[in-house]
Amino acid sequence: MRALGVLGLGALLAWVPPAPAETYSAMLSIRQALGAEGRLLRLLRTYLQEESDRLSDLARFYNKVQALHQEPAASVDNPLLAFGLIKRLRSDWLNVVYSEAASENTRELQAGFEALRQELPGPEDLEGAAQALMRLQDVYALSVKGLAKGVFEPAGARSPLYRPGQPVTLSADDCFHVGKVAYDVGDYYHSIAWLEEAVDLFRLSYGSWNTEDLASLEDALDHLAFSYFMAGNVSHALSLSREFLRYDPSNLRVARNVAQYEKLLEEQGTAEPGPPRRPDGTRLQTRDAYEELCRSPGTQVRGGGVPRLRCTYETNGSPYLLLQPAKRETVRLRPYVALYHDFVSDAEAETVKALAGPWLQRSVVASGEKQQKAEYRISKSAWLKDTADPAVAALERRIAAVTGLDVRAPYAEYLQVVNYGLGGHYEPHFDHATSGKSPLYRMKSGNRIATVMIYLSSVEAGGSTAFIYANFSVPVVKNAALFWWNLRRNGAGDGDTLHAACPVLAGDKWVANKWIHEHGQEFRRPCGPRPED
Ligand SMILES: *[C@@H]1O[C@H](CO)[C@@H](O)[C@H](O)[C@H]1NC(C)=O
Ligand SMILES: *[C@@H]1O[C@H](CO)[C@@H](O)[C@H](O)[C@H]1NC(C)=O
Repeated sequence: MRALGVLGLGALLAWVPPAPAETYSAMLSIRQALGAEGRLLRLLRTYLQEESDRLSDLARFYNKVQALHQEPAASVDNPLLAFGLIKRLRSDWLNVVYSEAASENTRELQAGFEALRQELPGPEDLEGAAQALMRLQDVYALSVKGLAKGVFEPAGARSPLYRPGQPVTLSADDCFHVGKVAYDVGDYYHSIAWLEEAVDLFRLSYGSWNTEDLASLEDALDHLAFSYFMAGNVSHALSLSREFLRYDPSNLRVARNVAQYEKLLEEQGTAEPGPPRRPDGTRLQTRDAYEELCRSPGTQVRGGGVPRLRCTYETNGSPYLLLQPAKRETVRLRPYVALYHDFVSDAEAETVKALAGPWLQRSVVASGEKQQKAEYRISKSAWLKDTADPAVAALERRIAAVTGLDVRAPYAEYLQVVNYGLGGHYEPHFDHATSGKSPLYRMKSGNRIATVMIYLSSVEAGGSTAFIYANFSVPVVKNAALFWWNLRRNGAGDGDTLHAACPVLAGDKWVANKWIHEHGQEFRRPCGPRPED
């Protein structure tokens, strides 16, 4: 069995075997869900074959009897035919009409499905996936209409952020599901946008019907009308409810709503609030700056025209680096942030991902003295000890050489490997502890002095690392390592390091984090009294 890192924050949680649920919070799990659907497809193919055999047999019986009715007059002269008619009516038709074959086929399909159910996403996954689409809508300023058409173009932009390899669109029922998730938590800003799209699409396809759909035009109108009512737009709630009654005039509840809306409008007149505003549910005071940075393609590295601050080949006095100097790009001086290009090889990145894969668990955040899941961090992670594999040990040696810091336990946490999920992100946070009660101090080696974050994959769009107060972002650069100091020389946290992982718009984002603590670094990064250092 592979040694699993349990030092660092991993030490504080009892290890539990990976839960089958939590599909949406890591791309690896989402890929695994494809396997489950593959098996469902095979089940359905068997069912279709059996049903089609059953129907051909029914058709055979129909054709046989139908042929006898071609000449009804002659058909009973022959005693054999007369017998046949009586036998059919007494026996054959009963067997045909009360055949169990259809329900046996259905039962087999359902039993196969139930056997797989453990592996299928749960309600929290559908909710998480819907929230992810709404997050991408918000952070990247995408219109719901555009998204439903498969277009990832921010409002006012001249080109899309992401061009899918093949066109994919959303159905009316897809949009209904997203809107319903918002509706159920009273978020009428998002429910209106998504249900509006659902209503438009259902209107276009009215009259046709898909087995897989949960909702209909009436359901979408009903929820949309109530969303408008809750958002204070009674006149629009009224007109949608009237449209509903055209399709389903016998619905008493909606008829009562119509009467109530008419009465309200009479009393309150046309004084209505404007369109609903986006909920401020997130804990971000820095939301606008964060989203602005996420939308910008990255101020460094790929920013055509932006002069690079400084690129050097670094040996850092380390014999290790004489052979293969680190390619350092200084991204910012204050706070000090550097990007080391080609820090790992493709093969090393694949090895680290493969080692971590089986151990991935939903990432947690420090909340007071405890750690818990949070909507503002959507990923799964695993801790790898340097003894897990020679590749991890080699990586640790390189981190030590490049940073000049002591990264042996307990001066640093084990390597944390992170796989982001659908719309996976980590809202603005500090890596260092900002309270003396933080679980970070349980390692008894001080606060996190520095962070090394290695990008183990590339993404197709999104996923930049945004430094909010410092006002710059670093895009995902495959195989590069980002380094920054979290603490000033006097040991105080550097507020300018507030940073975030922007939501992944498209792709599979993996990073490896190494958090280096204060203890052990006394002679490597001497303290200084000046707070500005
Ligand atoms: C109510 O909603 C409709 C449809 O979105 C809109 O045209 C109208 O301006 C809204 N009314 C108010 C007062 O916001
Ligand atoms: C952040 O930087 C951008 C240019 O990269 C600039 O337009 C913007 O005004 C800056 N924002 C702040 C708050 O300094």
